Amino acid sequence: ISLSIQCNTQKRPQYVPHRIDDPHYVRIFDTTLRDGEQSPGATLTSKEKLDIAKQLSKLGVDIIEAGFPIASPDDLEAVKLIAREVGNDVNDDGYVPVICGLARCNKADIDAAWEGVKQALRPRIHTFIATSEIHMQYKLRKSQDEVVKIARDMVAYARSLGCEDIEFSPEDAGRSDPEFLYRILEEVIKAGATTLNIPDTVGYTLPEEFGQLIAKIKANTKGADKVIISTHCQNDLGLATANTLSGAANGARQVEVTLNGIGERAGNASLEEVVMAIKCRGRERMSGLYTGVQTKHIAATSKMVADYTGMVVQPHKAIVGANAFAHESGIHQDGMLKFKGTYEIISPDDIGLARADESGIVLGKHSGRHALKSRLQQLGYELEGSELDDIFHRFKAVAEKKKKLLDEDLEALLSDEVFQP
Ligand code: KIV
Repeated sequence: ISLSIQCNTQKRPQYVPHRIDDPHYVRIFDTTLRDGEQSPGATLTSKEKLDIAKQLSKLGVDIIEAGFPIASPDDLEAVKLIAREVGNDVNDDGYVPVICGLARCNKADIDAAWEGVKQALRPRIHTFIATSEIHMQYKLRKSQDEVVKIARDMVAYARSLGCEDIEFSPEDAGRSDPEFLYRILEEVIKAGATTLNIPDTVGYTLPEEFGQLIAKIKANTKGADKVIISTHCQNDLGLATANTLSGAANGARQVEVTLNGIGERAGNASLEEVVMAIKCRGRERMSGLYTGVQTKHIAATSKMVADYTGMVVQPHKAIVGANAFAHESGIHQDGMLKFKGTYEIISPDDIGLARADESGIVLGKHSGRHALKSRLQQLGYELEGSELDDIFHRFKAVAEKKKKLLDEDLEALLSDEVFQP
């Protein structure tokens, strides 16, 4: 008890106040360490979790869901460690992330979550219970009235521990009756919930449908204007990012995401996709929405998560895949050599990625003469006319058989002394 009083009476840092009140600011809730770690085989040690949490703080996410403390003593210890170290590390701008722990709607889970996060300067308990008919009937075996009572009582219980920041999630909201959602959400707001997270737990909804659900919850839930509405979209139909953006366009001001999109089954909305979509199109097409993420740290954070979890990022993954800024076709390469904006809507610099080759050009069977000439110039060979024609034909013949031509391959093609610089 004394620890909790001590932590909660500490002066809270000033947390970039314009963001809190700014209706265009979208909070990034990162759940890599909780939902992300639920990816099969992605188990992390406490030390790895701490490293990732530090990196997430550098990235500037608003909330770090550090774990599910009741799940195991290790998880509880990791959450405590993150709360102590990352949750008290205030930067020069007064920024320190909220540290959050997950709990089902029961006292033991909530006690464990509070035990995990209470040493953070900005602790949050995130509690959830299922609200879809299919979950209430087959999993919980409870009626709507019983579920409402449990949710209300457990949110009030979490508040009674001294935690001022409570998030509530009606699990499987995407398949729940909207009228029932308004009812349960109204009750948890009255009990003290400060964020209402709307999970599309099985990735079932379509973007327009999910956006409408968020808009309807905001319009029909009494008290919704006093709390933050959040999205949590799974990727079972490959729609997690689209659904998240649709939620934000319809009034959600917190989005739950993971690095590289890792998570249960097909994963979650990916942080890098959601953040870069908002950065790239938010001002123009989403009424000026923006986030506080320092995007230049995205590439390093993505790599750390991939290395630590062993979940390899596919080469064509948006934003962080190895091919995301590589150009192979001749037409694209010609455009890139003239002006990068022809085929790139964001720059690798934006996510802190240093390109091995400044042009981003990959030489392969689709490459054209212009790209080959440019690469040869970078290597010190000035070829024109028939010399260039000749090497280009030989290059094409090799490229038919080889996926990528490296500089060594070009050097080998040029070994005839007529081509020596
Ligand atoms: O997918 C889900 O419903 C969740 C909740 C706990 C937010 O992970």
